[in-house]
Formats: sequence, structure tokens, C-alpha cells
Amino acid sequence: ACSWSFLVQIWTPAHVVSCIRTVKTTTWFDEHLTEDNQEYMRKSMAQEYRRQTVDKLNPLKDEPWQRHDWTQGSRRVGLVAVKLGMAPVWTKAGERHVVTMLQVQDCHVIRHLSKEEYNGHTAVLVVGGKNVSPFHRSEEQMEMFRNAGVPPKHKVTTFKVSDNAVIKPGTPLYAAHFRPGQYVDVTAKSIGKGFQGVMKRYGFKGQPATHGQTKTHRRPGASGPGGDPAKVFKGKKMPGMMGNIFVTAYGLKIWRVNTKYNVLYVNGSVPGHRNCVLKIRDTVLPTRSSTLLSPPFPTYFTEEEGDLDEDLYDDNLFIHTDPSLTLT
Ligand SMILES: *[C@@H]1O[C@H](CO)[C@@H](O)[C@H](O)[C@H]1NC(C)=O
Repeated sequence: ACSWSFLVQIWTPAHVVSCIRTVKTTTWFDEHLTEDNQEYMRKSMAQEYRRQTVDKLNPLKDEPWQRHDWTQGSRRVGLVAVKLGMAPVWTKAGERHVVTMLQVQDCHVIRHLSKEEYNGHTAVLVVGGKNVSPFHRSEEQMEMFRNAGVPPKHKVTTFKVSDNAVIKPGTPLYAAHFRPGQYVDVTAKSIGKGFQGVMKRYGFKGQPATHGQTKTHRRPGASGPGGDPAKVFKGKKMPGMMGNIFVTAYGLKIWRVNTKYNVLYVNGSVPGHRNCVLKIRDTVLPTRSSTLLSPPFPTYFTEEEGDLDEDLYDDNLFIHTDPSLTLT
């Protein structure tokens, strides 16, 4: 008995880690480094990156794949990005909008699955974003990254594409894949709210504050039919787990694209918490389709289009660095 209690003492955690969300400031790993250490980190990271990409079977070394032109009904690949936070912008007419900043970090095409390999209807491209330590990935996953000649990724996802929009695995994707003025859909896991009642979860009205109510102010009330059909239908709105599910925000306008830091400024809010990884694609809403703007097809290639301006702005956006007065 004595040795058993000894074991229990060892295996019980000394303190319980609290899981309450608190406001924390984010710091970057290189913020408190000296110049020398920064230099060292940069060098060793570059070395590691080269080791992972170049001497492996990097597919980009061989012939590039045949490119096709855009046709009616073509579907481009999307991006994996990280949510940075929100900021205000102003239009030339003086209207204020809020935007969410999404940074495209180390986004690469990882695999191409043809129609037959996937589901018989559409081809897909597997895209990964945000590099991560190889210790976080299994051996099968590492195999996939090695075949594409890219470092392991935090998030790997698929995008359905038309056959003329396939891109060779290993190709990096940049924020300039999207252009200001076009509309996008953003998918991410929403912030988890835990087990919630019907007022918070579904916006029920609750019950009166007075007139003899006893502990029923926030309760749902009666739940439906009696003797016939004598059951509660599936999907009845009741208390339960809220949030922490995949949510898509449709038809968000892109106001600005920063090509140096690969930041997209999209109109309004997107699901998910700060630093969450999300999926961006051309909108599926027919009235906001981006084909009129003809964004780069199948994606933006640095060597083809050359270097773009550091910032691309929507025509209506007020640019703070522009002179507001010109004197003749
Ligand atoms: C931007 O988003 C807001 C709300 O999120 C919406 O009211 C507004 O119409 C949107 N603007 C554009 C140009 O899409």
C-alpha cells in the first residue's frame, strides 16, 4: 500500500494547468536575441531549409508542368494563412471599415490528386501552411512533405480545382494570388464557447423577469408537441456545446495586399482566434465572382509577373502615404 501511494504521488500532476483564455501579448522568438544570435539563427534556419528542400527529390528541379489559360468555370487553388488581428481602414469617401489581417506563411502546394484518385468528380491540390518542427509530424506525413521537397507544415488542407488550374507540388503560394477588389471565402474553426444555454447558443428570448418566474429566466420553456407525435424531433434547439466547429465567412472583399510580408487585408471579421490557421479561396458567391478582375491564373509566379509593388490597394481605399494636397 505504501509503494502504491508513492506511485500515485509521482503520477499526479503537481498543479492543475488552468485552461481559462486570457489576453496575452504575443512575442516573436527573435525579439530578445542579440545581433549575433539573430545572425546565427538566420543562418542555421536557412541551412536547415536548404537541407530539407534542395538535396531531396525536389519536384521543382525538373520540367515545370504545362500551364493552361483561364476558361469559363475554372477553379483556382486557395491559400492557408494565419490570422494576425484586426485594424481600421478608410475609403476615399471617408467611410471607415474594419479589416482582418491574414498572413500567408510558408504556403506550399504539397500534392496533386487527380480526379480518379480523389472522388471521381474533381481534382484536388493538397496545400500546407506555416512551417512546424518535424517532431510534430508522423513518419507518413514527413514522407509526403519530403516528396514535395518542402518543410513540414502545421496545417495541411485540400482545395478542389479544375483540371487546367493544377500546380506542380513544391510551388510556393503567395498573398499576391489574390488581388484587391476581389472577394474571398474564409474557413476556420470558430472560438470554442463550451456548453451553453439556448439564449447564448440560439438567441432564444428567455422568460420574463417577474410575474412569478421561479429559476426559469434563461431556460428554453416547453419543447414541443405532446401526445402526437409524442417525441422530440432530431435537431431540436437545446443547450449544448457551442463553437469549436468549422465556419465559413462568405464574400469578403480584399482591400489591400502587402506583397513583402504576404498580408491580406479582408473586409470585416473572420472565424477563429488570433494566430489560428485558416483557409482562403475565391468566393463561390456568383454575384461576387472574381473572374471579371482576372486574378493571376493558376497562381502568382514571381518569375513570370516580376516583382509587384510592395502594397496593392483597392481603387477606393484611402492611402495614407499619398499626398493629400498638391500645390502648383
Ligand atoms: C464589409 O463588412 C461589413 C460587415 O462585416 C459589411 O457591412 C460591409 O458591407 C462590407 N463591405 C464590403 C465592401 O464588402
